[in-house]
Amino acid sequence: MAEQTGGDPLFESHDPIFNRKELLHVGHVPNEDRIVGRDDEIQSVAAEVGAITRGDPPNNVMIYGKTGTGKSLISRHVATRAQDAAQRNGIDCAVLYVDCSEANTETRATRQLALNLKDQTGYQQNIPLRGVGTMEYYQHIWGILEDCFDAVVVILDEIDKLDNSNILMQLSRAREAQKTDAYIGVIGISNKVQYRETLDERIDSSFGHRELFFHPYDASQLREIMRNRQDAFQPDILEDGTIELCAALAAKKHGDARKAIEILKEAGELARRTGSETVSENYIQEAQEVAEINRIEELTSGATVHAKLALYALASRIITGDRETYKTREVYKRYVSICELVANDPITENGLYRQLKEQAFLGVIESEKTGGGRSQGSYLLHRLVTDPKHIVKAVRRDSSLEGVPTYDHLRENSPSAGEREVDLASFS
Ligand SMILES: Nc1ncnc2c1ncn2[C@@H]1O[C@H](COP(=O)(O)OP(=O)(O)O)[C@@H](O)[C@H]1O
Ligand SMILES: [Mg+2]
Repeated sequence: MAEQTGGDPLFESHDPIFNRKELLHVGHVPNEDRIVGRDDEIQSVAAEVGAITRGDPPNNVMIYGKTGTGKSLISRHVATRAQDAAQRNGIDCAVLYVDCSEANTETRATRQLALNLKDQTGYQQNIPLRGVGTMEYYQHIWGILEDCFDAVVVILDEIDKLDNSNILMQLSRAREAQKTDAYIGVIGISNKVQYRETLDERIDSSFGHRELFFHPYDASQLREIMRNRQDAFQPDILEDGTIELCAALAAKKHGDARKAIEILKEAGELARRTGSETVSENYIQEAQEVAEINRIEELTSGATVHAKLALYALASRIITGDRETYKTREVYKRYVSICELVANDPITENGLYRQLKEQAFLGVIESEKTGGGRSQGSYLLHRLVTDPKHIVKAVRRDSSLEGVPTYDHLRENSPSAGEREVDLASFS
């Protein structure tokens, strides 16, 4: 095994499960031969930025698609290949990558571009980390481009997180405004297709751009993506059928390659923690639950205690009742009794309604308006998009809410038929 021990057996890896775990890290950029089912997308992105390799002006492009559809990967992959090809043609080309979920203001994004360019060159001037504005960072960017490069591909990932779109205008007008002679190609990436509409309002025609849409992966593509990374594990550790199951679970949920890889990794961790010699389908199932609970916890991490209690109330009604959907009023009643249980002052029914709407926005629940007939008026019915068990577990991770009943507890008290209000006080 090609383990790096530095020649000292003391540092030999004794990991019984993983061989090259880094293959399962989110930021890992696989080789071309490990990229699956994105040939058309690679071609399309290359068609937009590829002119750079011939010394011609590139097009800007916006890529839309749900998380885990390979947008970041394909953008980086094509940009790097364009850079290499340009280099071979004697064109100095830079690739700049900005994660706008972190660098979420124009100042932060331009600072990162400037620092990134400085890193790639022998630029002598000091670039201050704070105390200066956007304009100064642009000066450095134009200066370095002018001195060192003929062309640059700028990837603005998760661009919808940026507080304004001025950077798009600045980059697309730079040549025209004689800031630099370098050709600039922008690849903008957004997980939200809705961003498309606001983009048109935010920018003018100077940011002329093409649009690409990446679709979720199907089970067979997810299978292949994971098979290509099997060597993350020691030989014969993955039992037959585990990758298939993992792909099926991820395809059913969101067609999200990141989720699929995360589940696989988590399953390996679970196996290692419990001292198992192989990763079985049971570990995949369990890992999928852990991943789902993590996801919900992440989604609700910024939510108030009341939003969490509202979610919990809906989940517990579903567990103890015999329906999948409940009216706001029904959720509210349960919410109030849970508030008593954890000694929390309840908010009003209208307040709770707004909390539920907020959760609907996050994609944890779906709310549907139902006509109650002419005289009764209409009302909202709420349903969970995920297994109520996961909500209960995620909510109970909040240390101030540990006092709410566990999933098993709710199950034991679930009436087999009918739908009466469960006496929650009896749980404690
Ligand atoms: N077509 C693919 N082939 C191989 N691995 C992929 C593919 N698409 C995505 N991945 C992997 O899945 C994870 C998520 O992909 P990413 O590009 O970050 O998705 P997005 O940016 O659309 O959210 C990454 O680890 C990436 O390497
Ligand atoms: Mg991404």
